[in-house]
Amino acid sequence: MNIIGVTCSCLPKSISQEAVKEFLRGAADAGHQTECFAISQNLRGCTGCHACKKTDSFCVQKDVLADYFKLLPEADVVVLGAGIYMGYPQGEAWTFMNRHFCLHKRVLDHSECRIAPGKKLYPMFAQGAPDNPEYRAHDNELLKPFSGWGFELMEPLILTAQGKEAALQKAYELGNTL
Ligand SMILES: Cc1cc2nc3c(=O)[nH]c(=O)nc-3n(C[C@H](O)[C@H](O)[C@H](O)COP(=O)(O)O)c2cc1C
Repeated sequence: MNIIGVTCSCLPKSISQEAVKEFLRGAADAGHQTECFAISQNLRGCTGCHACKKTDSFCVQKDVLADYFKLLPEADVVVLGAGIYMGYPQGEAWTFMNRHFCLHKRVLDHSECRIAPGKKLYPMFAQGAPDNPEYRAHDNELLKPFSGWGFELMEPLILTAQGKEAALQKAYELGNTL
C-alpha cells in the first residue's frame, strides 16, 4: 500500500509529528511505501482562483502540497497529525483541508471527484488537556469535509501528556497492521 503522512506542527519536539512518524515506521516495517510531508513551511491557502475547475487539474499552486496532490491519487492511506491550539486543530490543518477544494471537478456539483473513494484518513491530534468531548467535536468539524471527497474517516488518535507513550505505541501498531 501507499501511505502518505502529513504533519502540521512546526515544533521541533512535536508529539503529533512523532505519532505520524511512528505510524509510518510501522507501515514501512510491514512493507508498505511511505512518504511524509511537513506542511508548516511554504503552505498557502486556497486563493479561490478556480484554476482547478477551469483547467481540469489539481491545485496549480507550487507550494508544499504540490507533491502531496501528485501522490494522492495512488495513495491508500493518509495519516494527518496536528496540534490543538485554543481548543481546535491548529490553523495549518484547516488550510490543508481547505486545499482539497481542488478535488471536486465542479463547484456545486460534487458528483465527480479527482480521486477514487475509499482512501483511509487516520487523524492524530496532540493536546495539553485530557481527551474531552468538546475538542473531539472540533476535531470532527475539521474532518467532516473529507468524507465528501470519498475518504473513509478512521477513529482519531488523541495524544495527551498522560497517555503519550501508549498512544505512540498505538500509532505504530495502526501503521503496522494496515
Ligand atoms: C498557541 C498554542 C495554543 C494551545 N492551545 C491549547 C489548547 O487550547 N488546549 C490544549 O489542550 N493544548 C493547547 N496547546 C498545547 C498543544 O496542544 C500541545 O503542546 C501539543 O503537543 C501541540 O502539538 P504538537 O506537539 O504536535 O506540536 C496549545 C499550544 C500552543 C502553542
